[in-house]
Amino acid sequence: MRVNHSGEICAQALYQGQALTSRDPFIRQALKGAADEETEHLAWTERRIYALGGRKSLLNPLCYLGSLSLGLAAGALGDKWNLGFLAETERQVEAHLDSHLLSLPKEDERSRAIVDQMRLDEIQHAETAIQYGAAELPAPIKLVMKVAAKAMTKATYRI
Ligand SMILES: [Fe+2]
Ligand SMILES: [Fe+2]
Repeated sequence: MRVNHSGEICAQALYQGQALTSRDPFIRQALKGAADEETEHLAWTERRIYALGGRKSLLNPLCYLGSLSLGLAAGALGDKWNLGFLAETERQVEAHLDSHLLSLPKEDERSRAIVDQMRLDEIQHAETAIQYGAAELPAPIKLVMKVAAKAMTKATYRI
């Protein structure tokens, strides 16, 4: 749940970066709904961490800054790349949540409910980004994102 929480910190930064760089008010408005849901995800995961007696990752400020820089860089390339980056991120988050659901204990219904709902929301977020003209990222970029996400998952699991 700590990893999921850090992921939601990244989502905050990405959507803020999107809002800061997008020149299109319609896109910004459309993504506002997704950004609001990310704020809810952040709150759910944080509450769940504390309910389980855990702690948040010390790397969160780094996650935030890293994602914000990436979001701003993608934004500088224009909306279609910015949205493409968002859509791909959401897809990778979906895959991560899929695998998390497989490893979560069956009896931890509360955590499962949270991850389930987040998964459905992230799928919708990717759809929204695609609807508003997300470009398909080149395969090497997707791969770099996967490697970075894996490293971040491993690091926030421990630290
Ligand atoms: Fe989320
Ligand atoms: Fe999302």
